[in-house]
Amino acid sequence: MKTAIFYVSVHHGNTARLAKAVGEAMGADIYSPEQLTHELLKNYDLVGFFSGIYKFRHHDDLIGAVEKLPRQNGKMAFIGSTSGSGRKAYHKKLADALARRGFRIIGEYTCRGFITFGPFGLFGGVNKGRPDEKDLAEAAAFFNNMAANQVKSQVDSK
Ligand SMILES: Cc1cc2nc3c(=O)[nH]c(=O)nc-3n(C[C@H](O)[C@H](O)[C@H](O)COP(=O)(O)O)c2cc1C
Repeated sequence: MKTAIFYVSVHHGNTARLAKAVGEAMGADIYSPEQLTHELLKNYDLVGFFSGIYKFRHHDDLIGAVEKLPRQNGKMAFIGSTSGSGRKAYHKKLADALARRGFRIIGEYTCRGFITFGPFGLFGGVNKGRPDEKDLAEAAAFFNNMAANQVKSQVDSK
């Protein structure tokens, strides 16, 4: 399955590490949101959207790039994030934008990431070392399994 991942990571490179580990495990091509076009998406079966969480949502560059796309016909998408608290509820704004553009979301993964923003920076930050090797391995396994299940369901339905 041809896979692309678009990511933004501006605080500590936490999500860059996540996106690259998942990308390597899935054999995905890695891009930034400025590269997100309808033409480019035609080359891919499966598209990942990753960023850190900034004020309760994914990065505006990522959400904005999705909002500029024409409607996709159920193209499969997956979402990743890192954040201070690791809450999946932060995915809602990006997930809603993807759904409005006609993507079908087939998997979401989140984990904690190192944070020194605002008061969290006072004592050297929180979640030092996250995502760690265990997070990266878990994310890679999660998304590989997600993709394999899609391939299996396509074969089963033939
Ligand atoms: C401006 C800013 C706002 C943030 N807002 C939140 C937030 O609302 N909830 C949360 O859990 N973490 C928040 N964080 C922490 C980041 O989501 C976390 O550090 C993430 O791993 C950063 O990813 P990055 O290094 O890929 O940019 C915020 C960080 C920054 C810099």
